[in-house]
This record gives sequence, C-alpha cells and structure tokens, in this order.
Amino acid sequence: MTPPSDFNDRMLSLGLARVSEAAAHASADLIGRGDEKAADQAAVNAMREQLNKLEIRGTVVIGEGERDEAPMLYIGEEVGQGIGPEVDIALDPLEGTTLTAKDMPNALTVIAMAPRGTMLHAPDVYMEKLAIGPGYETDVVSLDMSPTERVVALAKAQGVEPKDIAVCILDRPRHEDMIAEVRETGAKIRLITDGDVAGVIHCAEPDFTGIDMYMGSGGAPEGVLAASALKCMGGQMWGKLLFRNDDERGRAKKAGITDLNKVYTRDEMVRSDVIFAATGVTNGSIVKGVKREPTYIESETLLMRSKTGSVRRVIYRNPVK
Ligand code: FBP
Repeated sequence: MTPPSDFNDRMLSLGLARVSEAAAHASADLIGRGDEKAADQAAVNAMREQLNKLEIRGTVVIGEGERDEAPMLYIGEEVGQGIGPEVDIALDPLEGTTLTAKDMPNALTVIAMAPRGTMLHAPDVYMEKLAIGPGYETDVVSLDMSPTERVVALAKAQGVEPKDIAVCILDRPRHEDMIAEVRETGAKIRLITDGDVAGVIHCAEPDFTGIDMYMGSGGAPEGVLAASALKCMGGQMWGKLLFRNDDERGRAKKAGITDLNKVYTRDEMVRSDVIFAATGVTNGSIVKGVKREPTYIESETLLMRSKTGSVRRVIYRNPVK
C-alpha cells in the first residue's frame, strides 16, 4: 500500500476543486426546475468524469449508495487514473437535491479525499450529530448531555447568556422535542430544511454565519463529510450511528463496524490528513451559488486542507462557448 506520506494534499487539492466545480456547474442548469433526480444525476455524471481525470488510485467510501442501488459513484467504486496515491473518497455530488430543485439556499457539491483506510465507512443510516466551532476546551459539550445542558455549557464557555447562543437544527418532526427544549433555554435556533453538511460547517465560522452549535440527526455519510470539513477549519464534532431495523444494522456490519453504539469524534471519523472541497450550487451563507451570465459561468468553492488548516474561497470563471 502507498504510505500516507505519498498523499500530496497540496497538489491534489486543486484537482479536487475542479471535481466539485464541475458537479456544481452541471447541476446549476437544474436549479428551480423541480426535478431532484435530474439535478443529482447531472452532478454525479460531472463529478465522476472529473474524478476519473485525477492521477489517483481512489476508492469511493462514502458515495451514492451500494453498488446495486447506485450505478455511478457507488461505495467501493474505483475512481481516478489508476496511478498515484491510494486514497479514500467521500462525496455527495449534490448535498441538497431538494434545495436545488426548489431554488433554496445552501445547496452544495461536496467531496473529501484522504489516504486509503483513514475514513469511517459510514453506512447509509442516520447519525446523531453534535458540532461546535474552534477555540473551546475538548468535550465542552457532548452527545450525552441534554440539549439544555449543551446550550448552558457552551454559553458558560463563551462567558455569555444562553440567549446569546445560536443553534442550527434540521427542521424535522423527529426534532420537535429538541427544538422545544432549546427554545426553553432562550437560545436562538436557525432551522434548516435540508443540508446538514452546511449546517455543521456554519459552526466553524460563527462570526461569519452567526451559528455556534449544530445538533440533531441526519445522514451518516453527510456526517463524515462534515467531520472532514471541521478537521480542516477547526471545531469539534461527535456522531453516533442510529439504527431503525436489522437491515440498517446489517449495512453497518457490512461496512466493517462492530461497535454499533460507538460515539465517534471528528478525528475518529477522519483519522488522517484530509482535503475538502465544496462548491455552491444555490446561493448560501458559506459560498455563493453558480452564476450564469451570457458569456461566462462563475462559481465559488471552499477548498481546504487539514494539514495546514488553510481555507480558500476560490472563484472560478469559465467562458460559455
Ligand atoms: P440530499 O443531499 O440527499 O438531498 O440530503 C439532504 C439532507 O438534508 C442531508 O443534508 C441530511 O443529512 C439528510 O438529508 C437528512 O435526512 P432526512 O431528510 O431523511 O431527514
């Protein structure tokens, strides 16, 4: 196996940006057209085409689904030119298919890359998530705490009142009690209709986004992508897989997970250096969406490396032929 030292994250990062840009540009044609499947398919096709141009020996570990469910970019699919470093790839070609179809904010194309064998192979089940930004003591909040305890602990750590804390939560019936409890503390809540990768990323830049903490359940694959982003930007995250039936427990076992009750920290979800790229499809609070003008198409990509903690916002403009 190629040693992790061959993971030339600096060189690979620009290639990764191209992959997420291509997916965003392809799905942008489908913004506001009410067709989630078509938007996702366009992103998948473009992402796969670009990914296969990279000089990597890549394996998709977080992808569009199992081989028989997803004809492209399925878990286990080998991507790249078949030369260069062996890498794990986590991707969500369109994070926020509904957001795109309805032209709502914060739809992203997302991809992360790390040395082979260093990313959690999260099955397609739910994950209970909790995230905060950088600058706090380790474990200042935890998944064991109630929503109230988390708000109070974070407020104490910041030296502010609970009413000064802002929490981001997915607006779902399953979160009704959590939302009610957080409201009781006086904290602000930003409810999002979809897109919890962006939700978690918000915590890493509280001055920019106004969000201090993310909590609630969402897709486990999205959890690993969010952990990759926080590893680059700083911040803490915890995730616990949630299983509703034996089929889901079976998926976890197939992915090599033996302890079904484990709480994963950010660095247990992504165990080595990682590079991360996310391009805005619709306008959002992290990056702008794709802009189409008669003569050019423009997009903004968040491009980051955990090794250096470097965070770039790359504007890409391409002439329209
Ligand atoms: P898609 O990218 O598949 O549209 O997922 C969007 C999303 O909102 C994720 O961000 C989140 O993790 C998940 O769906 C939540 O699942 P559910 O809609 O079942 O609550």
